[in-house]
Amino acid sequence: MSEQVSGTTARPRRILLLSGPNLGLLGTREPEIYGTATLDDHVATARAVAESAGFELAHLHSDHEGELVEAVHAARREAAAIVVNPGALTHYSWSLHDALAAFDGPVVELHLSNPDAREPWRRTSVVAPVATGSIVGFGGLGYRLALEAVVALLAE
Ligand code: DQA
Repeated sequence: MSEQVSGTTARPRRILLLSGPNLGLLGTREPEIYGTATLDDHVATARAVAESAGFELAHLHSDHEGELVEAVHAARREAAAIVVNPGALTHYSWSLHDALAAFDGPVVELHLSNPDAREPWRRTSVVAPVATGSIVGFGGLGYRLALEAVVALLAE
């Protein structure tokens, strides 16, 4: 994916969007919390922002922690930035934490809801310490904001 430019390795013009457990149920899952838009709707929003800035958007949804970890490993070669909504893995997945720590590029943690305003166990994020920043509580708008953030960071 990466290209050699003047002796340096150019960053691939690809952003990876990761969606963790249960996000495939969006649209019908607790709509009073997560809204009625589907994951496909959110991916389309993210893809439109990425493509308008000249980036390709790769998306992986998985209910399995290891698949998400492996996608982060591959992103070390294949992506310039990661936007991740880890679902409940946010609150306990140290393997996802460690994988993201080894990724050399912007990482945006994204949540539809505001976990800090919910149950106490959601107030811990093990992803936040290895994220460049977090976007929470804006519902589907967060996908637009997250992609705009990584595009701006990659332009710096
Ligand atoms: C979520 C918040 C998490 O606490 C929860 O487990 C989810 C969705 C969100 O987008 O608001 O699955 O990541």
